[in-house]
Amino acid sequence: MTEAHLYRRFPALKASLPRLPLGTGPSPVRELTHLPTASGSVWLKDDGAYGDGGWGGNKVRKLEWLLADILRRDRRTVITVGGLGTNWGLATARYCREHGVNTALALVDQPMDDHVRDQLQRLRDSGARLYFTHTKARTVATVPWLLARHRRACFIPPGGSNAIGALGYVETAFELAEQIREGALPKPGSVVVPVGSGGTAAGLSLGLGLAGLSDVTVTAVVVNDTLRLDRRTLDRMARRTATLLTDRGAALPDVQPAPLVVTRDWLGPGYGHPTPAALAALALAREGENLALEPVYTGKAMAALLDLDEGGRSSRDAPVLFLNTNGPR
Ligand SMILES: Cc1ncc(COP(=O)(O)O)c(C=O)c1O
Repeated sequence: MTEAHLYRRFPALKASLPRLPLGTGPSPVRELTHLPTASGSVWLKDDGAYGDGGWGGNKVRKLEWLLADILRRDRRTVITVGGLGTNWGLATARYCREHGVNTALALVDQPMDDHVRDQLQRLRDSGARLYFTHTKARTVATVPWLLARHRRACFIPPGGSNAIGALGYVETAFELAEQIREGALPKPGSVVVPVGSGGTAAGLSLGLGLAGLSDVTVTAVVVNDTLRLDRRTLDRMARRTATLLTDRGAALPDVQPAPLVVTRDWLGPGYGHPTPAALAALALAREGENLALEPVYTGKAMAALLDLDEGGRSSRDAPVLFLNTNGPR
């Protein structure tokens, strides 16, 4: 297992910020040549292929840091929240169980379809304690009750998007920079990612800045209207992550994070509501590129990418990189 890029770059972090490797990087990159884009090339970095044990996607990247921190603090139960089809909750439950930690999930209603139904069954099978709190207000009110009810418990926000979880995508940005240096892909002008809770986009923005790629734009496609996910919020998350690194002894260079362009144009009626554009993008990715996306996050991000490109709104000639955050299960 190779050492984390963050440890190589900031050796002081080795002792102060533990990481529990759950996957083997780098995740693969390839050009997507069959998408109907009007101009410019499109590349894929496939984090669906990151993660050992049949799991992949962006949750694995975050849990490498979050779970290590949970174990370091000797917590016995993780309390977290998500929608009825939460990928985050399922990944947390499975990885925590493997490491002897219990999970309690407060679940908010979301539109029901076959995908959500299957996810809910997987959640029931995962060993997590499920609490159906239905609304956001009831979920927020339930968390302190759950914390009081479980011994040695800790709360992790939705999607694992706090400063520690975002480290997963600081690390990924360094990994990407190395792949570019080695010639595995050309330097992109922008990286397109979905935003469900923000940790992926915020971590990437900081990481790209630290890895010498602060001129690469992060196109952050908001797919969730139940959380505040504007640019200020994501910038703040990136700053908090930088502060965490500094507090733990990393001598950060004085660089800007990569710019975040936040768009809500592909959200449709709301979180979990499929849009025709997302369903069309999903089919194109599957048929043309053998790439499995899903309608809630990555389908909407791919729809954004296709549209940005077609409309010539991607301002540079450099390739666009699609970061696939969807993992197999
Ligand atoms: C497949 C997938 N992609 C993207 C995201 C969003 O990432 P983030 O929560 O870091 O914004 C999630 C979960 O929230 C997800 O399950």
